[in-house]
Amino acid sequence: MTVKVGILISGRGSNMMALAEAGKASGAPYEIALVASDKPEAPGLTWAEGHGIATFAQSPKGMPKPEYEAAIDAALRGAGVEIIALAGYMRLLSDDFVARWRGRIVNIHPSLLPKYKGLDTHARAIDAGDAVAGCSVHVVTEELDGGEVLGQAEVPILPGDTPDTLAERVLAAEHRLYPRILADFVAR
Ligand code: GRF
Repeated sequence: MTVKVGILISGRGSNMMALAEAGKASGAPYEIALVASDKPEAPGLTWAEGHGIATFAQSPKGMPKPEYEAAIDAALRGAGVEIIALAGYMRLLSDDFVARWRGRIVNIHPSLLPKYKGLDTHARAIDAGDAVAGCSVHVVTEELDGGEVLGQAEVPILPGDTPDTLAERVLAAEHRLYPRILADFVAR
């Protein structure tokens, strides 16, 4: 049985691409049933369409949040989605939405949680003088970046690293980590 995963993105969607490629491999435990975005112009949507993956876009502009989330929810359920993977989705999900999908939403965050929840993780790791940065895949709960950590990858911080150079190296690690951890998660 292949588990149907829906991915929420807001931007370039490079993690979504890594998940979609891995989901196409024979014997993969999951497949991507829908890529949805709050940004109709998100480049990742174009990529998904070009790769035969169903897409859905709904801007939340001028719409009450419950109505916006109901539209996303209906699209996900309509596509038969069982697990949601957030991949650069830059919007906070409401407690109601999280409750409706309790234990079935995961996210990738560019830090070694519980360190550096929220934004600007790479700058904060460099400023703190850390020797190691990384990324974490975690279950989404009502607490920002606070749910159970499912897996992490470490990335060294090198002399002269800027937030951009570090982000690039961490992103490559994200692309390796997320498909592996999602595969374990859907199977458990
Ligand atoms: C990644 O750094 C991810 O960790 C964070 O947002 C970024 C998304 O990048 N949550 P992409 O859209 O997957 O390329």
